[in-house]
Amino acid sequence: MEILHVSAECYPMAKAGGLADVVGALPKYQCQLGHIAKVVTPMHRTKFLYDNEWETVHKGAFDMGPFHLTYTVIKEKSNKLGFDLYCVDISQLLDREKIYSYDDDTERYTAFQIAVTDWLSKWQHQPDVVHVHDHHAALIPFMMKYCYAYNRLRDIGTVLTIHNGQYQGAMGWDKQQYLPAYDTWQWGKLDWEKTINPLACGVKCVDKVTTVSPSYMEELTQQANGLEKLFQYERGKCRGIVNGIDTAVWDPATDSYISDNFSIKDVEEGKKLNKKKLCDDFGLDIGKPLFVFIGRLVGEKSAELLPQAISDAIYHMNGRMNFLILGSGDPGLEKQFESMRSSLVGYYNAQIGYNEKLAHQMYAGADFLLMPSRVEPCGLNQLYAMRYGTVPVVRNTGGLRDTVIDFGEPGGYGIRFDHASVWDITYSIHRGLELYNDKKHLTAIRKTMMKIDTSWEQSAAKYLELYNSLQ
Ligand code: GLC
Repeated sequence: MEILHVSAECYPMAKAGGLADVVGALPKYQCQLGHIAKVVTPMHRTKFLYDNEWETVHKGAFDMGPFHLTYTVIKEKSNKLGFDLYCVDISQLLDREKIYSYDDDTERYTAFQIAVTDWLSKWQHQPDVVHVHDHHAALIPFMMKYCYAYNRLRDIGTVLTIHNGQYQGAMGWDKQQYLPAYDTWQWGKLDWEKTINPLACGVKCVDKVTTVSPSYMEELTQQANGLEKLFQYERGKCRGIVNGIDTAVWDPATDSYISDNFSIKDVEEGKKLNKKKLCDDFGLDIGKPLFVFIGRLVGEKSAELLPQAISDAIYHMNGRMNFLILGSGDPGLEKQFESMRSSLVGYYNAQIGYNEKLAHQMYAGADFLLMPSRVEPCGLNQLYAMRYGTVPVVRNTGGLRDTVIDFGEPGGYGIRFDHASVWDITYSIHRGLELYNDKKHLTAIRKTMMKIDTSWEQSAAKYLELYNSLQ
């Protein structure tokens, strides 16, 4: 079977978050299972682009409203990612360093999607499935079905995976002339509450919708930034499939980012060595349990609750633990996390920014990973943490609910709480502290977590089952 994935991100070409990790791993596993999986992304100006060799495979042109745009598709030459990676360039729109957050993102991503559809319509053969990810690619199924120029694509199977339903790419109807000529009887497919809503349009037009965990699928029918009714109505074609992780990249036994490799057998010793390095680097105390947070400093992740929860925990529990934060996001929060460094020396430290190497070192050296997310469609960090023997402390939501069992329950290994509140986080830190002091139990839990199969094999098989149901 041949599958074309379309996404704004793909690790290691371009990464802003978990979407990149998924699109960089799932196709590799699909290829290993004997299928042909390809990925196409915009040609972001990243290090990976400059460090690798590419060949031009197609050049084309299209009109987007009054603009005449030309595009180029290039392919990475060596297949080093385990699948063919294609990038689309459109001069003055996609030739930028960052992936998102430009004022003209609507134009950039609409143009990207038209270019991909146009290129696909020029292929001599057709893929079996076009698998689009998030709203940046969600207009493609509409164009394949209803734009006259792309008519030959209308029978190809389509799947939309929603990694984050909060972002929908909505634009005013004044932008409708950007789209290639389409069957105007179908305008309702584009519309949601008087705007063109790419995510909603994708849900309406694709054969199957998936989200990255079953619990998140349920949550979307109750809370989906305005699309709840749509998810209730389309429930029948929606399915939750939990993400896997790339166990070749995330393996404490071979990870070249960490100071000391380890496996289940020497987990205690291995974690201690990695913790020592972290504590030395950040002025923390190796004798105390280390709680870390890695992620975006935004409300979705409840990051604004952490400063208070951290100070409360240190104050009420007599400073018996350490904290280390790695992340970036809301500028006000970034400042707050930075300024706490001077008042909590020896108990707390933070690095503002995105640092893949430090993230690996933190999974390896920490005892606990905090994830108090308000919304977490799947969450990969808790899976990485578990693979490195670090206990996840998570809010009971989305993929966190589906992948972490509280250690108070039979067979449990993590810490789970219900509310995104300072109280629940502080109380969970207290539970972590107690677990930390019960060394035997902690070691057993570490070993249990490291044995859990979070690899892509199972999830990749579920996607194939889904594709097969389209034939
Ligand atoms: C988004 C979600 C995250 C998920 C990731 C990959 O970043 O917020 O929960 O794990 O996509 O699917």
